[in-house]
Amino acid sequence: MRTIYAFLLGIIMVFAIGCEKEKKVSNQLETNIEELLSKMTLEEKIGQLNLRGTSSRAKTLSEELKQKVREGKVGALLNVMNKEYVDELQRIAVEESPNKIPLIFSRDVIHGFKTIFPIPLGMAASWDEEVVKNSSRVAAIEASSYGIRWTFAPMLDIAKDARWGRIAESPGEDPYLASQLARAYVEGFQGDSLSDPTSLIACAKHFIGYGAAIGGRDYNTAIISKEQLHNTYLPPFESAFKAGAQTVMTSFNEVNGIPASGDKELLTNILRKQLKFDGFVVSDWNSVTEMIAHGYAEDEKQAAEKAINAGLNMEMTSKSYEDNAKELLKENKLSMNQIDNMVRDILRVKFRMGLFKTPYRNKNKDVEIYSSKHLELAKEAAIKSSVLLKNKNNVLPLNKKAKVLIVGPLANKPREQLGTWTFDGDKKYTITPVASFEKNNANFEFIEGLTYSRDTNKKYFKEVLSKASKADIVLFIGGEEAILSGEAHSRANINLPGAQEKLIGELAKIKKPVGVTIMAGRPITLQNIKNKVDAILMTWHPGTMGGDAIYDILFGVKEPKGRLPVTWPKVAGQLPLYYNHKNTGRPASPKEYVHIDSIPIGAWQSSLGNTSHYLDAGYEPEYPFGFGLGYTSFEYSNFKLSTTSLTEDNTIIASIDITNIGERTGEELVQLYIQDVAGNITRPVKELIGYKRISLKSKEKQKVTFEITVDDLKYYNNQLKYGVEKGKFNIWIGANSASKVKEEFVYE
Ligand code: NOJ
Repeated sequence: MRTIYAFLLGIIMVFAIGCEKEKKVSNQLETNIEELLSKMTLEEKIGQLNLRGTSSRAKTLSEELKQKVREGKVGALLNVMNKEYVDELQRIAVEESPNKIPLIFSRDVIHGFKTIFPIPLGMAASWDEEVVKNSSRVAAIEASSYGIRWTFAPMLDIAKDARWGRIAESPGEDPYLASQLARAYVEGFQGDSLSDPTSLIACAKHFIGYGAAIGGRDYNTAIISKEQLHNTYLPPFESAFKAGAQTVMTSFNEVNGIPASGDKELLTNILRKQLKFDGFVVSDWNSVTEMIAHGYAEDEKQAAEKAINAGLNMEMTSKSYEDNAKELLKENKLSMNQIDNMVRDILRVKFRMGLFKTPYRNKNKDVEIYSSKHLELAKEAAIKSSVLLKNKNNVLPLNKKAKVLIVGPLANKPREQLGTWTFDGDKKYTITPVASFEKNNANFEFIEGLTYSRDTNKKYFKEVLSKASKADIVLFIGGEEAILSGEAHSRANINLPGAQEKLIGELAKIKKPVGVTIMAGRPITLQNIKNKVDAILMTWHPGTMGGDAIYDILFGVKEPKGRLPVTWPKVAGQLPLYYNHKNTGRPASPKEYVHIDSIPIGAWQSSLGNTSHYLDAGYEPEYPFGFGLGYTSFEYSNFKLSTTSLTEDNTIIASIDITNIGERTGEELVQLYIQDVAGNITRPVKELIGYKRISLKSKEKQKVTFEITVDDLKYYNNQLKYGVEKGKFNIWIGANSASKVKEEFVYE
């Protein structure tokens, strides 16, 4: 007994010493901040709130900028991509400026810096935190060698509308999955210590509701209920802050009538008080002054007043703070205390980054850029994020002897396969599918057929078809060029652009197996080609190593491991579309579905069959959230709950036996969903609450278990009460969100 006491006492003491140490560090930090603040002039304080942009292609370093830095009127810089300029500007800041406050250099390092990983939507398809963390660590190591210490990532906007161009950059539609990945991104970017020279401070963006743009049109209005905000849009941000994200970026859009950059409820009450965020808030590019166009501020001065009063610390590119803060102070529209607090938040982060001790970039000659390790990780990520959507008669993997004809506008486009936000990735390092086939001495011929994804010129079709007739299999590699997704690149139709569908249609007529690989920044509607082809592989924009990953998948060296992080629509008219929707009083069902062609001519208006569906597109997606095939199949059996009664004090163990019934070793991503049957507000038809990846040899069987606690059931109601009521729950386990393997339990 005594030893137990001694042991417990020991633990308590270690914990107390740890807390004491932490307190000292934080006291010291606050003392340093106060000391520095007390020496700063008002101009310098306002300077810290200023994030100046430059052009990454600038050929000279502007004297005006140097002077501003010298006077202490810049807090951070964006897009300075010449290492010498970075060194020079930092030298001026820490040697010549009045209080020698270092600058932070920032950049959009989104899915890799030089070594490019799959676009974030692709990374989300990996459902793999380790892969995500590795990718952001690689990005941080590479970018920090250029002096960048702040990335504007991860983007954590829940996105349910594939028309929206920035869905490419999002973690998909599910708050649970996005929250797991948010943590991984932050841990990877920031590394083990913020003061490590390879650490990039993360920026959780865009706060908030940017992905809820009405109609999927970029920058558009968002209308989000309190309940949705708290249950769907905030969780990934909360997860990023728990992981220590130091900054957050406001979004361009308005939410419920107030542009995010001027919303005090969001930036102060929710962000600081509820989510306990203790870093600093940065605007998006000109988003403060864009509040004028929104109709929320009359002029730049009022925009600055609203943004500052809302709690926005640092203004990106526009200069309304710089030009107006002094006058606003004079007019008592702002207080000195407010300005001081804004500066404190920024200095705190600079101290945490160790910039006062180590202001200069990591000049270690051994920094690995495009190292074999980084390239290998990028290849692994591309394999893990590729989703096999169709594989009729197991046409894939290909036989190495098969004579392949590669066709398509993206089969050999080193720049395009890198995707959106890849300013720094050098296309000469890109391995395209064609390059990989060549390298591996595959038995293949290549003809592009269409020279870019929007190409409508059919002049090569004849030649393509003649070559196709001599091949054993045709591989079409197309999709969207990088520029068709990303910021401001929304589309109203999301099918394969140009004449790609026509070419695939012609190829299908030759009666040779046709496999389609899609590289795109969003789900692509497939109705016009799906039934004509044998296999469909979605690789998103797969990055630098996409070609090698695709080669390995197509030839079965590796199996595709991705699962959809978004529901895949049949037609754009179904959007927004997401699995975790609410039910209606008249849910759609096969029995009551009325197809447009089955309505008799001259039919009277009747309420028969009036359920929630589209006459022409039904009510089901093309592929459900969580879907993805591998090269083997699994059988689920024996789904059991350890108890059907959950209380505050117990947990439920859900278990299922999974057997690999195919011929090869394969991985399965086992997913767990629940439904709160009735709540004090309506609840989604299904919600993901867990997932596990297992690998099984042919005929091998494994029991997979999940532990369910009351915390997994909690949600915010529209009074913002967080909790769960007693009552019935449904629970599903399976390979995707459409699984029918169901049990029930009661929370009592
Ligand atoms: C605008 C984008 O919305 C944001 O995500 C990005 O970080 C900034 N521009 C800076 O490039």
